[in-house]
Amino acid sequence: ALEQTLSIVKPDAVGKNVIGKIYSRFETNGLKVVAAKMKLLSRADAEGFYAEHKGRPFFDALVEFMTSGPVMVQVLEGEGAIAKNRELMGATNPKEAAEGTIRRDFAESIDANAVHGSDSPESAAREIAYFFAASEVYGG
Ligand code: CMP
Repeated sequence: ALEQTLSIVKPDAVGKNVIGKIYSRFETNGLKVVAAKMKLLSRADAEGFYAEHKGRPFFDALVEFMTSGPVMVQVLEGEGAIAKNRELMGATNPKEAAEGTIRRDFAESIDANAVHGSDSPESAAREIAYFFAASEVYGG
């Protein structure tokens, strides 16, 4: 089915100047950018976005990292976009990410892991609405 998913290029990858290289992975694999913005997340933005991880041991470090510099936030659209994007990203820990994946090629550590992608249709709907008004998403 045609799906939309929320993608974030994290502060490490923005800092390394590889936004375009990451977008290129999306574009050459059937995912279309249908909304995008650069944003410096506040602590409240990051805590709310990652609310499901509150209480996990890595939560504070995650919020610290995600507010350390601007991120690029985008909605990707395509056939099976949620799973496709996760396949392109590779494993959460770049040390375990398969060859040719975004995290294998651009990420340094499990915290500085270059990208985020929604993990289910429910998360995608929540995460897209967290960053974009419906009128800002040019898909369909
Ligand atoms: P992300 O897909 O953005 O979702 C939560 C983030 O927490 C994850 O990517 C990692 O960058 C970070 N993180 C740090 N430690 C862990 C861990 N042990 N398990 C899962 N995520 C972790």
